[in-house]
Amino acid sequence: MPLTDKEKEPKDLINQLSVMIKTAQLHHTDNIAVINAIKKFSDILSPIVSEGEAALELVGEFFHLNGSRIRYSMEYVFNYDFLVREFRKNELGSITFTNVLHEDEIKSLLAALISADHSDIPFETLQEAAKNIKNISIGKLRKIAQESDELNRKKIIKRNYFNTVSLVKNISNKISMGEKTNLKKAKRLMEIIADQIVENESLLISMTTLKDYDEYTYYHSVNVCILSLSLGHRLGLSRKVLTELGLSAVLHDIGKIEVPKEILNKPSEFSEEEWRIVRKHPTWGAWAILKIQGINPSSMNAAVSAFEHHLYYDLSGYPKIKGKIILDLFSKIITIADQYDAMTSSRVYSRMPQPPDKALSIMVERSGTQLDPYFLKIFINMIGVYPIGTLVMLDTNELGLVFESSTNPDFIDRPRVIVLVDSTGKNVKYTVDMMEKDDKGNFKRNILKTLDPNQYKINLAEYLL
Ligand SMILES: [Fe+2]
Ligand SMILES: [Fe+2]
Repeated sequence: MPLTDKEKEPKDLINQLSVMIKTAQLHHTDNIAVINAIKKFSDILSPIVSEGEAALELVGEFFHLNGSRIRYSMEYVFNYDFLVREFRKNELGSITFTNVLHEDEIKSLLAALISADHSDIPFETLQEAAKNIKNISIGKLRKIAQESDELNRKKIIKRNYFNTVSLVKNISNKISMGEKTNLKKAKRLMEIIADQIVENESLLISMTTLKDYDEYTYYHSVNVCILSLSLGHRLGLSRKVLTELGLSAVLHDIGKIEVPKEILNKPSEFSEEEWRIVRKHPTWGAWAILKIQGINPSSMNAAVSAFEHHLYYDLSGYPKIKGKIILDLFSKIITIADQYDAMTSSRVYSRMPQPPDKALSIMVERSGTQLDPYFLKIFINMIGVYPIGTLVMLDTNELGLVFESSTNPDFIDRPRVIVLVDSTGKNVKYTVDMMEKDDKGNFKRNILKTLDPNQYKINLAEYLL
């Protein structure tokens, strides 16, 4: 059957490469299932290679083809993640196809990959086995993080986080005083954060466990910005669009400057009259943005998502609008990030924040009504079954905090955990990977249940950062 144009997208190349490797792991390379998989792969690869070489590279969590990032598509998510794992396991950073391939050349590549799977020095084995394949060359995975690099990167990320908090504070103060403000610096910061998302998604997401009771709105705006950018990145938005998204996200609640402090900081429930005022912040926000920025593409984007961020996917939220509209892309993304951060933060007017996994399950109930179901799926995949910051009780009697979500899609319920209390009840601090197995091949630890970190008075940020 001839392939349609749609089937020839780079994401299909990833998918078919993944299918082909999986098939070859199960059958001999002469098996008809493998031959068919090879043929399909060649059909997708040939038109790409005939225009020049095809360099497939793993950068952080994502594949790039000839320098452009390949869209992370939901329909292929498991095959995409399988291939990421396969590359990492073999310390493989890139495969470059320099010409239209013969079936035997692909067979040799598959055989080389399989020999590496069983080796203690996987990349060297792979390199040796693949060195005589004519039109294929491979490269080693670039080690991104040395320990000191890692520390430096954490420092830079933290600095940017707090710079963004001060920036939001600054913009808010200026607007309150009726001064004009230039968003150039804000855009530059968004560019930097958008770049960091590519290499350090986990670290940035763990920053969003920083919550501040007194300056809730500022921290919340930055957290919503980071979560929106991660989601936008996974949706395949370009760097330029991400910068705009970040700016819109950081300004989404700017209208709250018009809400009297006594109302915003009220520790008990709002009265009907107070709600009426709070519900005006989207409209006030849209006006404020247009007032400081005038009308240009960036200010329009930001004003639209400020206006729409509580309107919801089914338009059942506020402000009430006449007629049917389709929610803006940014609004849909920001609504999801906003709800997650708001629920997991200790807002003054919500007494108890929700633990992260509880917040996600509440959001799942809103899928298709308040929240875009497709975007929500990707968001949950990004945050994990046990999101960063979840307090977990293990079957070893250890108590710990999730600090890194699982990257293995077959085991998204097996994150990495900082153990805080050991099986004897002693306060400790060491990390464990829920993927670790004992000599018999059984998992060493299993998560029994999640607990609410707020009830244990645990400061997440202190442990995670
Ligand atoms: Fe809001
Ligand atoms: Fe918000």
